[in-house]
Amino acid sequence: MNRQDLVTSPVDALRNLLSEDMEAVNRLIRARMSSEHAPRIPEISAHLIEAGGKRLRPLLTLAAARMCGYEGENHIRLAATVEFIHTATLLHDDVVDESDRRRGRPTANLLWDNKSSVLVGDYLFARSFQLMVETGSLRVLDILADAAATIAEGEVLQLTVARNLATDENTYLQVIRGKTAALFAAATEVGGVIAGRPEQEIAALRAYGDALGIAFQIVDDLLDYGGASGTLGKNVGDDFRERKITLPLIKALAAADETERGFWQRTIEKGRQEEGDLEEALALLNRHGALEATRAAALDWSTRARDALAALPPHPIRDHLAGVADFVVARVS
Ligand code: IPE
Ligand code: IPE
Ligand code: MG
Ligand code: MG
Repeated sequence: MNRQDLVTSPVDALRNLLSEDMEAVNRLIRARMSSEHAPRIPEISAHLIEAGGKRLRPLLTLAAARMCGYEGENHIRLAATVEFIHTATLLHDDVVDESDRRRGRPTANLLWDNKSSVLVGDYLFARSFQLMVETGSLRVLDILADAAATIAEGEVLQLTVARNLATDENTYLQVIRGKTAALFAAATEVGGVIAGRPEQEIAALRAYGDALGIAFQIVDDLLDYGGASGTLGKNVGDDFRERKITLPLIKALAAADETERGFWQRTIEKGRQEEGDLEEALALLNRHGALEATRAAALDWSTRARDALAALPPHPIRDHLAGVADFVVARVS
């Protein structure tokens, strides 16, 4: 049996195929997360970065660039840039969400404090900009700066619609497209840009990343109710405690009777949560098939991601990317 036969997930297969590039990305990340003057920066960065993480976004950048026939070194810089932006947003996100577990470890905000998480997040953001400048491509800068602004916009929009039971699926889509899909879309798009591919192919790569990111976040929101903390590496129930209006909740709300509506008003709108409420919330979601409906929505976006690939020339990596679209829906961590 060769190595390929042992591979189970499409992401692992892609990781195998691009292992040398990925090692170069990890080396670059390690080199750039250092700081001469403030030891807390590498302490916190290492705490989060060495805990692993799927490295899905940098993998997408490498895959897109290689599939497009790119031969230089800038894809390594861009993949590291994308993971730095991701890491910075995680540091900030865990402060905003008051989360205490990430990648199977206590969060930086818990181990150190909010101030350190925010500032180290800022540092990593700045480092990501230095890295992308090194590519010398203004277009790449434009795409990634745009993504960084859109992520922040998505997080702020989410903050302002949290607790509002009137939030509809369109607003939810706007939030997740901003906070999550923007970086996926930029990650795949820049791969095509540095390879100098035709505009229609670059647009297809972007459409793939956008739909994939949306599917990915829908599943994240599903796992926040229906997943297992152990495999997830983060706590289940964070969204409920934070009173976020995610798709499972929107689906359950649409089917709620008067008593159930009262429950959601108390726990989400008013935030008066008691022991056993998360279990009750989960029971209501199950009663109305809200988790299945959410999974179906994720599957729909995953299909759109697959469809976007049709505009790209046949390539073995293209098949792997189609597999990644399946993976994001099937994933448990
Ligand atoms: C977590 O992303 C943040 C979301 C957009 C849901 P990942 O699930 O890709 O996190 P890591 O990098 O693998 O830890
Ligand atoms: C993740 O949103 C989006 C960003 C990090 C910008 P979530 O808050 O749902 O992600 P997790 O569940 O904390 O990873
Ligand atoms: Mg969060
Ligand atoms: Mg989440």
